[in-house]
Amino acid sequence: MRKKIDLEIDYMQESDLKDVLWIERKSFITPWRGNAFRREIENDDDFSHFIVARHKNRTIAFIGFTHVLDEAHILTFAVHPKFRQRGVGTQLLMYALNMAKSLGAKKVTLEVRVSNIPAQSLYRKLGFQVVALRKRFYPDTGEDAYIMCIPNIDWVRDVNNGHFNNLLRRKKNMSCETDIRL
Ligand SMILES: CC(C)(COP(=O)(O)OP(=O)(O)OC[C@H]1O[C@@H](n2cnc3c(N)ncnc32)[C@H](O)[C@@H]1OP(=O)(O)O)[C@@H](O)C(=O)NCCC(=O)NCCS
Repeated sequence: MRKKIDLEIDYMQESDLKDVLWIERKSFITPWRGNAFRREIENDDDFSHFIVARHKNRTIAFIGFTHVLDEAHILTFAVHPKFRQRGVGTQLLMYALNMAKSLGAKKVTLEVRVSNIPAQSLYRKLGFQVVALRKRFYPDTGEDAYIMCIPNIDWVRDVNNGHFNNLLRRKKNMSCETDIRL
């Protein structure tokens, strides 16, 4: 088994941008441009949070989410291709979920391309469920998006032990409220 990667988690800063933009270009068909990240870095409102994971002074992953009242929404999330499948995505997403929880979020939502199996697997592992399908959500390819959601962020707490999955099975009747159903 590969050794767990030590991460320093921090708010995104201007000095992270070179690495962030490289990862962004390698990860997405329509990458965000530098100015979009710069706006988020300079924006000191309480609604959006852009977090990076650094390893040996190198930025290797990032995640951005908004938080309004009891709902958090993941905007962007990627890991450097060379560091994938080594637990970095899980660590960073868990950090963001715990942060959203401490800010008062109860529910977390996100959109994911229907073809993006790696991301969907990670989200399911942490307790997200598919609650809706948004047709032709992505203008670049016309691909559909799944809306995924954790109805109760408290469910994430036990993710590191088997108890978490049992808890999810017990509570499977609870679901996120949404206007678009599958
Ligand atoms: C999705 C992403 C962030 C996952 O990051 P990661 O660091 O590789 O994730 P982890 O190593 O923590 O993997 C956690 C789980 O995700 C799933 N997973 C990760 N990569 C996978 C792959 N290539 N195929 C299938 N499942 C995969 C597995 O369930 C894995 O659990 P396991 O290790 O017990 O099998 C990464 O693949 C990435 O940056 N993709 C490009 C950008 C992207 O798609 N972002 C999400 C937009 S919605």
